[in-house]
Amino acid sequence: MGYNSIVFFFLLFLSLANAGLNFYISQQESFRVLGLVAELAYVRDGSINDVAQHFVVPVPSHIQELCFVWVNADSKAVKYSIFTKDNSMQPVNHVSLNISNQGVVPREPQIFCLLLPCSTYLPSKLEVSMKINFTSFNNVTVLNVVMKKDCSSDFRNVDQDVLSKVIPAEDSSFMLFVAVGIAFGVLVVSLAAASSAHQIVAEDKPSFRLQRNNIIIGKTLLEGTFGSIFHATLQIPGIPLKDVIVKTVKNNAAETQVRLMMEEGTRFQDLVHQNIYPLIGIVDGDGCRPLLVYPSVTYGNLKRWLLYCRGSLDGSLPHPLCTQDLVTIALHVLRGVQYLHQQNIIHKDLATRNCVIDDLFHVKLTDMALSRDFFPNDYHCLGDNENRPIKWMAMESLTRREFSTASDIWSFGVVLWEVTTLAQQPYVEIDPFEVGRVLRDGYRLTQPVNCPDELYAIMAYCWSSSKSDRPTAPQLYRELHQFHQTLNEYI
Ligand SMILES: *[C@@H]1O[C@H](CO)[C@@H](O)[C@H](O)[C@H]1NC(C)=O
Ligand SMILES: *[C@@H]1O[C@H](CO)[C@@H](O)[C@H](O)[C@H]1NC(C)=O
Ligand SMILES: *[C@@H]1O[C@H](CO)[C@@H](O)[C@H](O)[C@H]1NC(C)=O
Repeated sequence: MGYNSIVFFFLLFLSLANAGLNFYISQQESFRVLGLVAELAYVRDGSINDVAQHFVVPVPSHIQELCFVWVNADSKAVKYSIFTKDNSMQPVNHVSLNISNQGVVPREPQIFCLLLPCSTYLPSKLEVSMKINFTSFNNVTVLNVVMKKDCSSDFRNVDQDVLSKVIPAEDSSFMLFVAVGIAFGVLVVSLAAASSAHQIVAEDKPSFRLQRNNIIIGKTLLEGTFGSIFHATLQIPGIPLKDVIVKTVKNNAAETQVRLMMEEGTRFQDLVHQNIYPLIGIVDGDGCRPLLVYPSVTYGNLKRWLLYCRGSLDGSLPHPLCTQDLVTIALHVLRGVQYLHQQNIIHKDLATRNCVIDDLFHVKLTDMALSRDFFPNDYHCLGDNENRPIKWMAMESLTRREFSTASDIWSFGVVLWEVTTLAQQPYVEIDPFEVGRVLRDGYRLTQPVNCPDELYAIMAYCWSSSKSDRPTAPQLYRELHQFHQTLNEYI
């Protein structure tokens, strides 16, 4: 491996009270993470390296943790407190340290690491900052360490179960310029001709794999014949407790049911969107029933919530639903659909049962793991062994098993109908075996009571027999959005 030139200009000028303090990324670690043969010092003999403070450490996707070394060789104690922050805007802080958030800098060199996981619902560039307050004689010095973890999807699509794999260096050569204001100087790191550098990286399981003891199961929210949904608490050392939702199978579930839950539950795991319900983590591989972990939502399942609202039109709901609210809900679902279609993903089971809603009326599309079990009346077998959402399916999906973005749009029309009827069962009067035939004959879901003509027209548009006559998600969004706006004008 040839490293042409590595130049580090360090500017050491902010002095800490304690001259025995050292804090750095070791040469070995800097090589592992950055491919550089150089130690990156943040504090050298009590002096803070201001350039290093402003240097954003680029962490490649295959690196799971960044380790630092520190030591206080002085006789006077240096206390520290560490705060980490990331740009994910997610309820859980993902970065975790393997030392406590405050204490005393040890007398002997100590390695500590910052775990920088990529996960399904994190941004593709995860920016993390770590602030350390060093306190010596009552004066506090704040040090800032900034990192940017590459969580681009290319890496996440790689088979992550392989425990050890060969990952080529990101670039055969790269150059980092850290410009520091005025005439202080420049840190130039250049590494060239490292084309032969292939690192063997021992990878742990994907970072969104949680340990079973991270989850404290609470009360049951939904129960089927072989699946259950629980309230739970996510407990990760060093991170505040979080309320979560856990989907899992019961002990009586067959192997195929477990496999199906995992397959369907992880379908959207690489997606990040405000209208897609994110999977936070998975507990699996320890021989017990697997757990799918999701963030907590206040109202929960959309279908159940709509049914609940129906019962409370007597005024017990603090905010009775008007057409506008219903259209808002539909628009959220549609945004999720639009995003999936942009990602070339067909949902195949759009329905209010596969959505969740929170108290701010934010709706997110979920995967369909265990839906057949929780909503058995919404699925039917047509002679074969496959349980399908017959009454939500497009004609061509029913007759020819064809699925496309257009068949999703058909199902979305049914969702719109469900929302406006507060989750009535579609075609109650029709036998599931007959659905295909009556649709071919031109029969469609009827206009719900109190549903404005314009809104019904939008639904009916989704149920055009010919796929090409149906609107696309963006077209539909424009129509629905426009309708929503006209409603606003009448208020
Ligand atoms: C933190 O983890 C690293 C390796 O992952 C280990 O080398 C180090 O000793 C750990 N530090 C502490 C304080 O446990
Ligand atoms: C650490 O520094 C921050 C300023 O960045 C300050 O707000 C905080 O109170 C300090 N904490 C301690 C324990 O000194
Ligand atoms: C910090 O503590 C040192 C050691 O006593 C003292 O000399 C220095 O003036 C203090 N600095 C500030 C900014 O208070």
